[in-house]
Amino acid sequence: MKKITLLDLKAKKDQGKKITMLTAYDYPFAQMVDEAGIDIILVGDSLGMVVLGYESTLPVSMEEMLHHIRAVKRAVKRAFLIGDMPFMSYQASVEEAVRNAGRFMKAGCDAVKLEGGQEVTDKVEAIVKAGIPVLGHIGLTPQSIAQLGGYRVQGRNVQSAKRLVQDALALEKAGVFGIVLECVPYQLTKLITERCSVITIGIGAGPYCDGQVLVIHDLLGLTLGHKPKFVKTYVNLAPQIKQALFQYQTEVKEGIFPDFSHAYSLSEEAWGAIKKAVED
Ligand code: KIV
Repeated sequence: MKKITLLDLKAKKDQGKKITMLTAYDYPFAQMVDEAGIDIILVGDSLGMVVLGYESTLPVSMEEMLHHIRAVKRAVKRAFLIGDMPFMSYQASVEEAVRNAGRFMKAGCDAVKLEGGQEVTDKVEAIVKAGIPVLGHIGLTPQSIAQLGGYRVQGRNVQSAKRLVQDALALEKAGVFGIVLECVPYQLTKLITERCSVITIGIGAGPYCDGQVLVIHDLLGLTLGHKPKFVKTYVNLAPQIKQALFQYQTEVKEGIFPDFSHAYSLSEEAWGAIKKAVED
């Protein structure tokens, strides 16, 4: 099985073939995503909300990310693996950004992702200079939620749209191999994708990106509560899982499970010998 490389991703853009990307945070999900043939697996800091139960991505630590990256890495044979740098792992200084990006690579990542535009290009340049591929992320950047004033679509007015285009071009100049566009109107996404030579990956950014990403728990119907407009739930697993749990509970209470088909047994000869030994 051939491992996906940056050259394969770039070739897809050049040939007009769509790039597929999904999040995964643990061994079994990563194995399924990898075997399904998805191009890129992102161990996103969305982990904080969908797996660890935090209210935002802000509390997620480097150690938590590394723990999950290592589990995912053990499952991945083919997909390009990206680790999402958590809040305050790259913002404070260029040195810290390079050191933390290096820790992700040592844990098995093929690249790192970080949020922000012109304000993070010094970090992007330094990480790329260290030989580490970087995926940018602009538009709705959840780590800056306090500054953005909530989870809302970005680039809706001239000032904000111009800023997004400038951010994309600045990231490209700083050396990113691609940019995630989150919650951006599709007309603006199209313009950015046409103007940038690097790949664009959309989430809530319409059909004109070079690729698409979703949080796997959203796609599988495993996230409870509010679901953004851009999410498509391909299977609603949460009710099916709950139904299985209720059935298990009922069957244990009523003595239906386990039956003898789920139990181990001894041969008559072995049981006879054991019984005799125990009774003597
Ligand atoms: O953390 C994450 O899962 C992400 C994707 C939604 C792009 O950043």
